[in-house]
Amino acid sequence: MTQHLLKAEIHCHLEGAAPPSLAEAQARKYGMETSHIIQDGSYRWSDFSEFLVCYDAVASLFRTAEDYALLTETYLAELSAANTIYSEIIISPDHGDRIGLGADAYLAGICDGIEAAREKTGIETRIIITGERHFGVDRVVAAAEYAARNRHPLMTGFNMAGEERMGRVADYARAFDIARDAGLGLTIHAGEVCGAFSVGDALELVKPARIGHGVRAIEDPAVVERLVELGTVLEVCPGSNIALNVYPDFASHPLKQLKAAGVRVCINSDDPPFFHTSLAREYEIAAQEFGMGDAEINAMSRTALESAFVDEDTRTRLL
Ligand code: ADE
Ligand code: ZN
Repeated sequence: MTQHLLKAEIHCHLEGAAPPSLAEAQARKYGMETSHIIQDGSYRWSDFSEFLVCYDAVASLFRTAEDYALLTETYLAELSAANTIYSEIIISPDHGDRIGLGADAYLAGICDGIEAAREKTGIETRIIITGERHFGVDRVVAAAEYAARNRHPLMTGFNMAGEERMGRVADYARAFDIARDAGLGLTIHAGEVCGAFSVGDALELVKPARIGHGVRAIEDPAVVERLVELGTVLEVCPGSNIALNVYPDFASHPLKQLKAAGVRVCINSDDPPFFHTSLAREYEIAAQEFGMGDAEINAMSRTALESAFVDEDTRTRLL
């Protein structure tokens, strides 16, 4: 059992953490039909493209600052109950804009949820703004500009998620330049749906402190060597990788090989109910499927905290 272990997570998409029961309650509130995205209490999708469509449809069921405060607090309460002391949530101003709420109210609701959870449970949370690659280069640049203009103390990082097969990293590098100049920590989804070249591009063109997933770096020893050299942290999400069929099973997953090669790694839940997982379950997977003991798992939690986009006082208190 891993319940007793202190946990930290640096890669979870907020709308991707909405339990189907909450999404259904939201749909009832707004008179929306959900049978195309939820069936028998589970999200419905069959491949990565459909997953992204389902994700965007679920996001569209959260429409006010209060809805987002509820979603945020609900997720953080679950994390805290699993003994989690630190969390970074990935949010996209585009989802606030698309539903007509606006990015400012979207962010304000999420911050309210974070403060409420911190007051009740003590969990420490920071926000990573993401651009969604499948919304196009201009939207990703706009997300970076939004983050650079609104330096809220809880907003500490910039990411790019979405359809990795759309364009090359070079097309989006300007967004990361804007975020870097604003002092935000950088991370980027790469090496999940696309191969090692995508991780190589990210390392050279974005120079992120961390990479979301990055597991397919294993396909090119030179890219693995570069990750080790640079000390880049991989935010690995094993349950997500199996659910999205990046690997057929845990035995084929390269987490242990990457670790053995000297790559810094930590474990995360990504979009937990979409993948029938949770951060608690990812820790159980580390123990049961990857055969890791408490010390090895604690070292990954430490890596998450060491690479967290958080001020040094908070990091020292948590470590
Ligand atoms: N958005 C939410 N989850 C994602 C994932 N696993 N990959 C890319 N974009 C995402
Ligand atoms: Zn992700």
